[in-house]
Amino acid sequence: MIYASFKSIGAYVPTKIMTNKDFEEIIDTSDEWITKRTGIKERRIASSDEASSDLGAKAAQIAIKRANINKEDIDLVICATVTPDYLCMPSTACLIASKLELPNVQAFDISAACTGFVYALSVAKAFIESGMKKNVLIIGAEKYSSILDYTDRTTCFLFGDGAGAAIISATNKKEEAIIDVNCSSDGDYEDLIKTAGGGSKHPCSAEVLEQKMACIKMKGNETFKLAVKTLTSDVIELMEKNNLTKDDIQHFIPHQANYRIIKAVGDTLKLGDEKTVLTVDKYGNTSAASIPMAMNDAYESGKIKKGDNVLFDAFGAGLTWGSAIFPFSPDDK
Ligand code: ACO
Repeated sequence: MIYASFKSIGAYVPTKIMTNKDFEEIIDTSDEWITKRTGIKERRIASSDEASSDLGAKAAQIAIKRANINKEDIDLVICATVTPDYLCMPSTACLIASKLELPNVQAFDISAACTGFVYALSVAKAFIESGMKKNVLIIGAEKYSSILDYTDRTTCFLFGDGAGAAIISATNKKEEAIIDVNCSSDGDYEDLIKTAGGGSKHPCSAEVLEQKMACIKMKGNETFKLAVKTLTSDVIELMEKNNLTKDDIQHFIPHQANYRIIKAVGDTLKLGDEKTVLTVDKYGNTSAASIPMAMNDAYESGKIKKGDNVLFDAFGAGLTWGSAIFPFSPDDK
């Protein structure tokens, strides 16, 4: 039997910090309001010469080094992003593979917004378990500052830039196997979170530019309620399906969109605050990059040890949502 195992994690964050105080200068808001409603204090902003592929390649280099493999052994690159370097082509995964000097490797993008990294994990698992691939590099890379309308005070302060990456490898050790990944969607809710312009429905035009239709628009309040509901129900479903209880989980890594959402979900699931990884205060919502960036923080601070069970729980535009449970299984050096 071939299993897929979660070998390593890495992340990269741009150096420029934008604080809530900085937003007080450009929109009608306050540090107090943003902190109370979201838990966010600051976020990172990529420089004008950094695109999502640059952030993703830097995160990937760290994940590859920590996985203790030769980069030539990577046979698939998947990048989850909704802020690709180019709107249509080439894919950001192709650009990252080029930057990492991985010639001829299969590479493609996944578009599932904030759930993108969990979707990428599910695809990597399936490729490995089918025997088609042995070492898959998955990346969540986002430059949200490129799709924000910095005059829209209801949305622009929520997001930041960054990237996270992981190596998923084949193993015959059942105890190292990713236990389960479950992903879902409901396109009926397309209007909750959307970049309406620039695609085939509303191609780039003067109107698209004038109306800022290529920027993200979100109905925050409705999104909030659905986020709490789906983030909770998908974990309950996954745990029941795999006969697991909260005591089997050592680290809860939810999508970092809003502290109040994370707290409400954590309380309902009764996982315990000490198990919940939080980075929303310093990075804001980095969409597909948020979960691997949070995991990297917990890993670098020494919290995540070999064999610990990790629970991912994500929610985003689409709507999409998904969760995953796996033992962290780095190779001994
Ligand atoms: N500063 C000050 N006041 C503001 C701001 C601001 N930046 N933005 C809105 N307000 C005001 C509103 O105008 C409103 O005023 P009113 O009551 O006089 O009408 C009041 O604050 C409350 O507005 P709400 O939208 O009801 O505020 P809410 O408590 O819902 O918080 C927020 C807004 C933070 C956006 C929240 O709804 C949220 O986090 N939603 C979820 C976002 C999310 O999870 N996204 C994940 C997916 S993202 C993806 O996939 C790309």
